[in-house]
Amino acid sequence: MSDQPDFDHLDVDYDQFLPLLQGANDGLLAALATVPESGRVLDLACGVGEPAVTLARQRPDLRLTGIDISETQIEAARSRAAQLGNDGVRFEVMSMDALELDTGSVDAVMSRMGALMMGDPIRTVREAARVLVPGGRLTVAVWGTLDMHAAMRLGLRCLEAVLPAEQVPDLSVFDKLAAAGVREGILREAGLTAVDSRTLRWTFERADFESWWSFVLAIPGPMQDAFRRLGQDALGRARRTMAELAAPCRRRDGSYAFPMGCQLLSGRL
Ligand SMILES: C[S@@+](CC[C@H](N)C(=O)[O-])C[C@H]1O[C@@H](n2cnc3c(N)ncnc32)[C@H](O)[C@@H]1O
Repeated sequence: MSDQPDFDHLDVDYDQFLPLLQGANDGLLAALATVPESGRVLDLACGVGEPAVTLARQRPDLRLTGIDISETQIEAARSRAAQLGNDGVRFEVMSMDALELDTGSVDAVMSRMGALMMGDPIRTVREAARVLVPGGRLTVAVWGTLDMHAAMRLGLRCLEAVLPAEQVPDLSVFDKLAAAGVREGILREAGLTAVDSRTLRWTFERADFESWWSFVLAIPGPMQDAFRRLGQDALGRARRTMAELAAPCRRRDGSYAFPMGCQLLSGRL
C-alpha cells in the first residue's frame, strides 16, 4: 500500500489499537482453530507480535513464526514473546514478498492488517502459497472499504471540512483493494482454492469523546500527518466537526460505540 508509515521509527503504544482490531482478531483466531496439533503457523507482517502471542497462549502446541520487515517491530515482538517461555515461538526480520523459508514448510499462514495491504500483494500471496503444505490455508484479515473503518472514515471527513481538496490525503487505495473480487483474484492466481471472503463486524467503544478524538489523532499514516500540519484554529474546527459526526454513536452515559468492519479472506493450497 502506498504511503505506509515508517514502522521502524514509530513511537506508538500498539496496545491501544487492540480493541480497534478485536473483531479482526477473533475472526482470525477462530479460523486458525483447525490447525492440527503441533502445526507450524506463519504470521506475515506480524508487527509487535499480536495476534501471534495470543495464539501461542491459546495453543502452546503450535510452532509459530512471525516475520516482519521492521527490525524494531520484531524486537518488540520478541520481548512480548519472552514472557511465554515457549521456544516454539520465534520472530524474524524478513520480507513477506521474499520469504526465507522452505517450500511446503508451514501448515497455515495468517496475517492481520499486513499481507494484502502492505508490500506487493501478488508476491506476498505467491510466497505464502509456496511455503504452505498441500491442504494448508492462508487466512488474512484486512481493512475493507474505507466506510467500514469508523476512525479513518470520520477522521478523513474532518480533514475534508478544513482543508482544500488537494491537501486531503488520498486513501482511495483502501477501496480499490477492497473492491469485489480483487483480493480474491490474487489468491486464486497464486493457486489457492476454496477462496472465501467474508465481512467481520464489531463495535469499537470509547469512554468519552476526548478518548475517541485522541485515538483518531494517534493512528499513524497520512491522515495523522495531515492532522499534525493543521494550525490551532483548523484543528479546533476539525475537532468540532468530529463531535458532530460522532454524535450518532454517542450513548446516554456519554460513551461512544462505533461500528467497525474488516474483510477475512482465506484460501487453501
Ligand atoms: C499495520 S501493521 C500490522 C502489524 C500486525 N500484523 C498487527 O496486526 O498489529 C503492518 C506491518 O507490516 C509490516 N510490513 C510492511 N511491509 C512489509 C513487508 N514487505 N514484509 C513484511 N512486513 C512488512 C510493517 O513493518 C508493519 O509492522
